[in-house]
Amino acid sequence: MVEQQQNEAAGRLGFPAGFVWGVATAAFQIEGATTVDGRTECIWDAFGRRPGAIAGGDTGEPAADHYRRFPEDVGLLRRLGLDAYRFSIAWSRVRPDGGKPNPRGLDFYDRLVDELLANGITPWATLYHFDLPQALEERDGWVNRDTAYRFGEFAGTAAARLGDRVPVWTTLNEPWCSAFLGYAAGVHAPGRQEPKAAAAAVHHLLLAHGIGMGQLRTHAPAARAGITVNPYPVHPVDPDSAEDREAARRIDGLQNRLFYDPVLLGRYPADLLDDLAPFGFGERIFDGDLELISAPVDYLGINYYRGYRVTGRASVAAEPAGPEWIGAGDVGFVPDPSRSRTDSGWQVEPDGLTEALLAVHRGYPAVPLYVTENGASYPDAVAADGVIADDDRVRFLADHLRAAHEALEQGVDLRGYFYWSLLDNFEWAEGYAKRFGIVHVDYRTQRRTLKRSAHFYADVIAHNGLA
Ligand code: FCB
Repeated sequence: MVEQQQNEAAGRLGFPAGFVWGVATAAFQIEGATTVDGRTECIWDAFGRRPGAIAGGDTGEPAADHYRRFPEDVGLLRRLGLDAYRFSIAWSRVRPDGGKPNPRGLDFYDRLVDELLANGITPWATLYHFDLPQALEERDGWVNRDTAYRFGEFAGTAAARLGDRVPVWTTLNEPWCSAFLGYAAGVHAPGRQEPKAAAAAVHHLLLAHGIGMGQLRTHAPAARAGITVNPYPVHPVDPDSAEDREAARRIDGLQNRLFYDPVLLGRYPADLLDDLAPFGFGERIFDGDLELISAPVDYLGINYYRGYRVTGRASVAAEPAGPEWIGAGDVGFVPDPSRSRTDSGWQVEPDGLTEALLAVHRGYPAVPLYVTENGASYPDAVAADGVIADDDRVRFLADHLRAAHEALEQGVDLRGYFYWSLLDNFEWAEGYAKRFGIVHVDYRTQRRTLKRSAHFYADVIAHNGLA
């Protein structure tokens, strides 16, 4: 309180005492070392061999070589003054091929967690960040209900080993991406374009979340546990058009309500059950599944990048919906020309963060929220003197922190913010070309350099607020 008042007196936007400042990463995007210590392939190793699947033919090697350089990276976290570090645990290291536990794989996360704790940084572990063991994909991956049970085993193994030191756990990161980009659009691993498979994957991922929650409660009883989703605010281009409102209902359903409702309310939205009936969605749901899926979570993680303006009128749609929008009909997207875009082509919409947070705060039973990812890719020129003046990213960060603060002012129980990402990394199908880090990585030398945004963020953290 005192700190908040002092901040405001100094013209700064103060965050509540205890607000958690963090950064996020994910195993496959930074670790490299894909063939060591008993690790076997995940779906991204296999997908990377498919010609044209990943920009530049990039693979998970060497990524940011974090597997070997983690002490240096933890040193960076400390230097920036971060409270918490959100990372993910590679299933293929811990239970290679989705099979038996691998002590050498577990040892890596053990060392990482100890290093974090020794540096005063709270470890936040995510169990599944897109990297299914390839051997399980060969048994139909998330289309196979059994994969949810294999995930439960993985969750139990990780929690039994690390649960005494990792106080916060996330079952899944963005199941929307795993299901729809992986199995319907095919732009993420495993690269399948089978709408029915995507529908099955949605339910089995959520079931895995529920089973994983049970394992976390058993093996890490003192820890907090939850799930991270990627909600997007959705607006009809013309609120007076019935077609546009219908398009918004469908997109909001697939992106947001399909995940919020089962986890927080214990049921799938009735309209979505209808929309997805042609894809056999309902047939995947067994008695008792929704009880598991709606086991109480201690918090909800929100990854926010952008919003959508949608239309149901083909004549208006500038970008017709891709194959990931199964059952959405003839919807399309319309960019807002007044907004700038990141290097990923994503529209910059800080106000959408406030809106996404308010939507879950107002629409669902109370649950503490964390922004578990938010960030932007920009080209990031390295000047002759080595300075990386990523002013676009500084602005992006400042604007989104103001938006998060606005949500707090409107009563949202927001407890923390994690920037995506600490390091430049393997941006999935975009390879290494898109840089999201506040720390630049020279992939030739693996040299790390703090960008201007890193200094800016460190200053925000040091003052618990924004100038
Ligand atoms: C999110 C992913 C994360 C990263 C960012 C840019 O959807 O969770 O791994 O790729 O986008």
